[in-house]
Amino acid sequence: MTITVINGTEKQGVTFRLKEIFLDQYRDDAEITEFFLPRDCPGCCAGCTVCFLKDEHLCKDAEYVQKIEKAMLEADLLVFTSPAYVFHTTGAMKMMLDHFGYRWMPHRPAKEMFGKRAVIITQCLGAGGKSAAKDIKDSLSWWGISKIKVCSFKLMSEIHWEKIPNQKKAAMTKKLVKLAEQMHRIDYAKPARTSFGSKMKFYIVRMLQTKLGKDDPEYTDYKYWKTNGWIDSVRPWK
Ligand SMILES: Cc1cc2nc3c(=O)[nH]c(=O)nc-3n(C[C@H](O)[C@H](O)[C@H](O)COP(=O)(O)O)c2cc1C
Repeated sequence: MTITVINGTEKQGVTFRLKEIFLDQYRDDAEITEFFLPRDCPGCCAGCTVCFLKDEHLCKDAEYVQKIEKAMLEADLLVFTSPAYVFHTTGAMKMMLDHFGYRWMPHRPAKEMFGKRAVIITQCLGAGGKSAAKDIKDSLSWWGISKIKVCSFKLMSEIHWEKIPNQKKAAMTKKLVKLAEQMHRIDYAKPARTSFGSKMKFYIVRMLQTKLGKDDPEYTDYKYWKTNGWIDSVRPWK
């Protein structure tokens, strides 16, 4: 199987250690590609909207964004990691997610995403881990992913891995290993089931795109939906 990991920090701290524990369960039989942010996607979205209106390849950061996109589309499992920074995901992760605004359902979602599985690992000192995970989950679900598992930790006392009590480390390890084993048992030859919520989003956007297409048949997003057959009877899920 193939796994693509998007690390919301370059630091080899607690988030990194937790992600390593999760990935250790796949080392023998998975091909793992990792991206570290901001190194692998250093530019902010400039708000030029060229990706929405014309073509994502015209983005000033397309070189970075398209490399990440290719790895994500080819992966069986996506893993996102982030510490909580002021109650949210890291700025570096947000910068990368902004670049994929054009992949949100109201624009040009990739059909591959509808059958994909994802895991989000976040941690915080006391509060903010869950909202950091939500920042990431919002994008993933609007990309069309239905099967998203969140694993969020509160360290409570110490943010340096070496100083975290062994009991706490063991509890976090147990939770991560259990999740990794659960995700490992999946038959990735079969796409994940698309949820009712994702299908509803799709049908609402389909109505919107149909109307936009009537007003302007050359509208970029409409043409994408039409070419995929989604305005007609084709669906991105199996
Ligand atoms: C800029 C910054 C903001 C942070 N904000 C929060 C926060 O809002 N809530 C919290 O519980 N921990 C916060 N932390 C602690 C981190 O979430 C995390 O536990 C710590 O940085 C260790 O993660 P790392 O070793 O992977 O970097 C913050 C840390 C930094 C550097």
